[in-house]
Amino acid sequence: MGFYGIIKFRCIIIIYGGVNMSIKTIGVLTSGGDAPGMNAAIRAVVRIALGNGFRVMGIRKGYQGLIRGDMEEMTLRSVSDIINRGGTILQTARSAEFMTKEGLEKALEMCRIFNIDAIVVIGGDGTFRGGLELSKVGMPVIPCTIDNDIGCTEYTIGFDTALNTIKDAVDKIRDTAYSHERCSVVEVMGRKAGYITVDVAIAAGAEVALVPEKEFDLNVDIIKPIIEGRNRGKKHYIVIVAEGVGKAIEIAKEITEISGVEARATILGHIQRGGSPTACDRFMASIMGGKAIELLKSDIVNKVIALKEGKLVDIDIEEALQMKKELPYDLLQLNKLLAL
Ligand code: F6P
Repeated sequence: MGFYGIIKFRCIIIIYGGVNMSIKTIGVLTSGGDAPGMNAAIRAVVRIALGNGFRVMGIRKGYQGLIRGDMEEMTLRSVSDIINRGGTILQTARSAEFMTKEGLEKALEMCRIFNIDAIVVIGGDGTFRGGLELSKVGMPVIPCTIDNDIGCTEYTIGFDTALNTIKDAVDKIRDTAYSHERCSVVEVMGRKAGYITVDVAIAAGAEVALVPEKEFDLNVDIIKPIIEGRNRGKKHYIVIVAEGVGKAIEIAKEITEISGVEARATILGHIQRGGSPTACDRFMASIMGGKAIELLKSDIVNKVIALKEGKLVDIDIEEALQMKKELPYDLLQLNKLLAL
């Protein structure tokens, strides 16, 4: 039976059975880059699904694991003591094979073999795109990435923990920058987006924030504020650079050469993705997990769970993929005043 056969089969239940589509077994997987709060989301999905009478299969290593049939049945105790843990107990992967027709077919075959009727997918942007293909099996998506770069939602799980990790790191860097009267250029993650950069610049009290969404002029946007700050009596300077801008080392070199203020570069790297999730991320993961199961209980599938104006909503996957959100440019302006 082809993939569409599954759908037809499920529709037949509606039409001829006169009852709701019967989702009995739910798969859960994490995909793409890990993010703190993924475990809290897995826990919520498993516990709430089991509490509602579903069977749950935990699929290891994302879509790649699905293709390989790498999965096991989850119990209430499978998710004990994980709400506080970073990373993902199911592990994760970025699967190139899944993006091929053959890979997708294999994944669907595994769904048939293990009687999986719907999969809760927990992950970021790439996950959605892969998920669109899989959506034919019935799939709610929980947005989970430190980058907060998913257009349809104001919040993605992991963002707050990453912000706190970076804020702590910058606080430490600030100590040594002050002692030596230096400028510290700190490169943060975020792929092609500057959401992390903007929020961290404000939270950590940085003088300059460089985002990929906005071109910058070295002299106007970096050198001038540093020299003016020095003339006003500042003793240290922090420049946050998004990885989408990159070149932290070169920027530090140029600051030293042009301004005479000694500069050092720090690329924070994967430290930003680890650590125990904050209360905010545990909370968001728990309520988004609950929402995913609530949808499946009502046989509503192929939705992305999103935060809109502070409320949880569900949006069709295809529509969600088209949605864009703007960087809060006004906050960049605000930061300039905060850094005076
Ligand atoms: O999407 C999360 C993220 O951490 C990005 O900020 C970063 O660009 C990317 O993943 C790094 O991916 P990897 O861990 O595969 O190097």
